[in-house]
Amino acid sequence: MQLTSLFPSLAIQAHDIRHSLPFGNQQIDILNGVTFNVERGAWIALTGPSGSGKSTLLGILGGLDTPTSGTIAIDGVDITTLNETKLARIRNQKIGIVFQSFNLIPTLTALENVEAPLYVHPNRKHATQRARAMLDLVGLADRLQHRPHQLSGGQQQRVAIARALVTEPTLLVADEPTGNLDTKTGVQILALFEQLRKELGITLVIATHDNAVAAHADQELHMVDGCIVQGAL
Ligand SMILES: Nc1ncnc2c1ncn2[C@@H]1O[C@H](COP(=O)(O)OP(=O)(O)O)[C@@H](O)[C@H]1O
Ligand SMILES: [Mg+2]
Repeated sequence: MQLTSLFPSLAIQAHDIRHSLPFGNQQIDILNGVTFNVERGAWIALTGPSGSGKSTLLGILGGLDTPTSGTIAIDGVDITTLNETKLARIRNQKIGIVFQSFNLIPTLTALENVEAPLYVHPNRKHATQRARAMLDLVGLADRLQHRPHQLSGGQQQRVAIARALVTEPTLLVADEPTGNLDTKTGVQILALFEQLRKELGITLVIATHDNAVAAHADQELHMVDGCIVQGAL
């Protein structure tokens, strides 16, 4: 299917995504035909009960996993047909990923963690200055030399967000980004997403259990049993 040139204004075009995994001598179906579009610059909340397939779908959107079938175009590029080298390039240049558990490299400082994706980026110029500017934007200008264990959960998540955005992706996917934070810190991280969306014009897809996150979104995609049951365009 030719998706590429049809809707160039769309950040995401997902068509009939299915994903199954072997389980013993059977297959379990995790995604059962997921279709939706996301406009550039939109904020999407991906909601649904535990086990409904949110993390699986985000992994596919983020190019970490390839679906069993279906097509998915990010910024007009179909990522389901790319080899690992090309996919890695798209991940590095178009997509930022934030996890619930921050996933920072423990031996690196905040500044080095944020610089790391630029080491393999075509535009490596001024990597340190750009990482510094991004940490400044997320409110951590005074924590550049701290290592993850010297930072609070909220600060670690800010570093992770700065790392995801330093390559200037069009799409940021976040899997329960406030799930490990207390309510007040979670609210601060949400305000940060809101600010970054305004300042950088990125598209945001956030999987969440948190109604406060869903309330910030332009659109809610609600999943049940590997299907979007509400909100798909
Ligand atoms: N690697 C895996 N092996 C087997 N089953 C998996 C694997 N990853 C996810 N699943 C199953 O797929 C379903 C969806 O999981 P997940 O995408 O993590 O849902 P959610 O993020 O909404 O909680 C669950 O039933 C889960 O047990
Ligand atoms: Mg999950």
